[in-house]
Amino acid sequence: MDIWLNPLFEIEKVLLGITEDLEYFNDTYTPNLKISDPRFGDLQADGILSFAKQSKQNPRFLAELLIEAMNKSGKIDPKLISYEISGPGFINFKFSNEFLTEWLKTVQTKSQLKDLCHSSYRKKCIVVDFSSPNTAKQLHVGHIRSTVIGESISRLLEFCGANVIRDNHIGDWGTQFGILIMAIKKQNFDLDTVDDQTLAKLEQLYKSGTELTKENSEALAEARNELVKLQNGDPENIGMWEKISKISYLEFEGIYKMLGVSFDKVLGESFYRDKIDPIYKELIEAKIAEESDGALVVFHLEHPRFNKQPFIIRKQDGASNYATTDLATIMFRVKEFQVDEIIYVVDSRQSDHFEQLFLTIDKWFSTSNKPKPTLTHVKFGTILGDDGKAIKTRSGEPVKLKALINEAIQRAYKVVESKNPGLPDKEKNNIARVIGLGAIRYIDLQQNRISDYIFSWDKMLSFDGNTAPYLLYAVTRIRSIFRKAAIDPEYYCEQASDIESITEIDLAKKLLGFGSAINQALSELKPHHLSSYLFELAGVFSTFYNTDKVIVDDALVKSRRLMLCSRTLLVLESGLNLLGLETLERM
Ligand code: ARG
Repeated sequence: MDIWLNPLFEIEKVLLGITEDLEYFNDTYTPNLKISDPRFGDLQADGILSFAKQSKQNPRFLAELLIEAMNKSGKIDPKLISYEISGPGFINFKFSNEFLTEWLKTVQTKSQLKDLCHSSYRKKCIVVDFSSPNTAKQLHVGHIRSTVIGESISRLLEFCGANVIRDNHIGDWGTQFGILIMAIKKQNFDLDTVDDQTLAKLEQLYKSGTELTKENSEALAEARNELVKLQNGDPENIGMWEKISKISYLEFEGIYKMLGVSFDKVLGESFYRDKIDPIYKELIEAKIAEESDGALVVFHLEHPRFNKQPFIIRKQDGASNYATTDLATIMFRVKEFQVDEIIYVVDSRQSDHFEQLFLTIDKWFSTSNKPKPTLTHVKFGTILGDDGKAIKTRSGEPVKLKALINEAIQRAYKVVESKNPGLPDKEKNNIARVIGLGAIRYIDLQQNRISDYIFSWDKMLSFDGNTAPYLLYAVTRIRSIFRKAAIDPEYYCEQASDIESITEIDLAKKLLGFGSAINQALSELKPHHLSSYLFELAGVFSTFYNTDKVIVDDALVKSRRLMLCSRTLLVLESGLNLLGLETLERM
């Protein structure tokens, strides 16, 4: 038997293969193999229990049949992976130390780690629609979630072999531009002299413009007129709108660059403005959309709420809206990218919108036999301040993302300064950048994204607990072992003896669980499954390191322990990178 990179996957295959031609089994049997509580071996397959129940057979009898067939087949070498029946019909598997050691020797590079995941996303074309801020406004703290969750999900999907298109569906078209253009003209605001305050000033202009249109009906009429001119392609207004988009995106890009995020496409709402008419036409022809009170709407009669509260796709005044654009966007992505799945990383508060959008698309595609892409709303909760309400600045404004990032880096600098004052300035700055950015990112990804969470500087910059500094420190600790021993951390050693101490074995098994953590994160599109795993791994490593001395005289023992260190480093760094964190040589 070869050493299996992904024993979970391979054993499952063996079980399926064997039961295929085994009497009393049929194709409704699934092994359901999982990493188990260490008391019950290393892996447990409990699929026989549900199969027996459903086919009204005795599970123990089926398990015995299966074991007998496995023995006969010789597909699993019991010297490497032993197996037995337990309880009413579980099958427990246990890795031998020889297997674990060989596995460690085999998994040496990041690309081998990739083979550990066997996700259904492989080779699929996936659009991840994330970040997607609105132009003419600065990014605020609310945008961090979509940006970092979206980036991490994109990296995870790519890691498992998907073809990912990162698309920033910015809000760059809409009624707000009438007001903004009016205000810019009134103030003679210069859109050609741009600095890092320009976007903030535009945001201010928009606010004062809105106030003005509320008090003054002439200004309101002017704003409406500017909007109509813009929509009709008036060159002056189009020119201004283009400059506003450019100024906005320049600032967004600065932040994306800091966060290590880049997009394959930036197809904002404006891109779809000339792709709207066929949507109305086709939805009316398919009898999915209907007129109601002068608007064009889609009712979902089967739905308890949307039967009365329809999805409005054309407003009473004839204008398109957010819904229309999203429908056109899906049609475009299907046609241009042959997309298999679209993942929207957007705040939970937009759940109704996406639910109605997806229901409409379901109906639309069921009228033709075109393959429908899977549509998934990856929703997330709110970042809260100490008071349990959405986080705000003292003056009640949303916290700007740029300010938040700068503060994180400054605070991290103070931590570095106090821990390691002797480092050269340049290095201190870089460490502060990596810790600061890592901290805001990690605190977010470490939560189940569905929940709200309370933002706390102390918690996220702490070296204890499930935090970025703790994990980044674990990485530097391993790096320093190799630095001090003057050995390449990409260590391969043929001569390592088999692992044998409990802490070595625990660490090897934990490392083997990396693939499952990735697969779980991907199957639920929740990066926190990966971060919990990395945190546990760092803990198991720490126990190993405090118990088993690495640099010992016995060359064979030293070699296998260095190998464990090297593989832990590989998994930790790869995992952190999938969450979007950079790692450090020392800190
Ligand atoms: N611009 C929107 C907002 O700020 C988010 C867009 C999300 N993507 C989408 N295809 N609807 O709320």
